Formats: sequence, structure tokens, C-alpha cells
Amino acid sequence: MLELLDSAEIGVVRKPSVAEMAEVQALVEGAAQAGAVLPRTEAEYYEHLRDFLVYTDGHGVGGCCALHLDMATLAEIRSLVVRPDLRGAGVGRKLLEACMEEARALGIARIYALTRVPGLFQKLGFHEVDKRELPHKVFKDCVRCPLFPGCDESAMVRDLPAETPAQDSE
Ligand SMILES: CC(C)(COP(=O)(O)OP(=O)(O)OC[C@H]1O[C@@H](n2cnc3c(N)ncnc32)[C@H](O)[C@@H]1OP(=O)(O)O)[C@@H](O)C(=O)NCCC(=O)NCCS
Repeated sequence: MLELLDSAEIGVVRKPSVAEMAEVQALVEGAAQAGAVLPRTEAEYYEHLRDFLVYTDGHGVGGCCALHLDMATLAEIRSLVVRPDLRGAGVGRKLLEACMEEARALGIARIYALTRVPGLFQKLGFHEVDKRELPHKVFKDCVRCPLFPGCDESAMVRDLPAETPAQDSE
């Protein structure tokens, strides 16, 4: 028997619209209350809208992730959150892969995340480094964090080798 796919279940990863940022904010702030990600001000969601990718399906925004450029060679993965009912189904992986693809396309050499779920990042090719390898992040954000310097997050990095242009066959 043919099983019909519920179109509401087929999700896509794409850039969010302004109207979707309220859902992104609710998702991230929910996870922030559980201490999983950093809270942001309402204004920051709009200021950084273009950093975000969202996973959406017929039920709305089911996940989000942001790629924030620190400098010419370095970008941070931030605000990775998947709606609780969608967890464990590969949505987080899709969002991270899409952020990595975007970083590669921009020519970013290294991406990183500060996280309490290093296992997820390891699965996607990241490895742990000492936070002192990320002085930019430490001086910009960490020093203002109440947990500094006793933070329990792992610094995970992934290097993104530049793509070699295809050779001309002639
Ligand atoms: C962490 C989170 C984003 C993962 O999203 P998800 O959609 O459930 O993850 P996926 O199903 O895509 O998992 C991808 C891979 O990572 C693994 N993984 C997922 N969560 C993991 C965890 N907490 N620890 C270790 N590995 C994990 C999965 O087993 C999967 O591996 P596989 O592809 O080999 O099977 C989600 O649980 C979440 O929103 N948590 C609350 C917010 C949070 O902690 N965000 C991270 C901030 S850095």
C-alpha cells in the first residue's frame, strides 16, 4: 500500500523571514532558560537576522542556527536549537551542515562553537581545543559572562579547507 507523505513533515533549511524571527526568538529563549544557549535581547535577533538559518516545515520554525563572523578567517556557530518534539531526527545535523556550507562559500577557514554538547559537534567533524585558542571570543564575550572564567562549555572547532577549483580538462 502506498504511504502518503504528510507535506507538513517535509522540512527545509533556509534563511528566515523577518516575520519568522519571533518564533526563532521563542525557540532560543526557551533553550536559554534551560541554560543550553545564551539569551539575546529582542533587538539582537533582528540585528543578527542574516546570521540565521532556520529549519521550517508545515508547523513553522522547527530549528535554528546562526553563523556569526568574528573576523576574515573565523566564524562562530551560535544559537543552535531544535524544537523539542523534533530532536533526534537529524534536524540539528541539517542546520549545522548548512551553516558549514555557508561558511565554506564565504571562504571562512575555521568555525567554532562553545557548547555543552560536544558529542554532537564531534559527529560533524569538530574537535575540542583549549579556549585560549579562541582569544577573540574570550575577550569579546566570555569576559562579560557571569560564568567566566569557570565556564563548563567545551570549545569545539572545525577547519574548512578551501575548495580547490576544478581542473580544466583541456
Ligand atoms: C543539541 C540539539 C541542537 C541537537 O539537535 P538534534 O536535531 O536532536 O540532533 P540530530 O538528531 O541532528 O543529531 C545529529 C547527531 O548528533 C548526535 N547528537 C545529538 N545530540 C547529541 C548530544 N546531546 N550528545 C551527543 N551527540 C548528540 C546524534 O546522535 C546524531 O548522530 P548520528 O547522525 O550519528 O545519528 C538539540 O538537542 C537541542 O536543541 N538541544 C537544546 C539546545 C542545545 O543544547 N543546543 C546546542 C547549543 S551549542
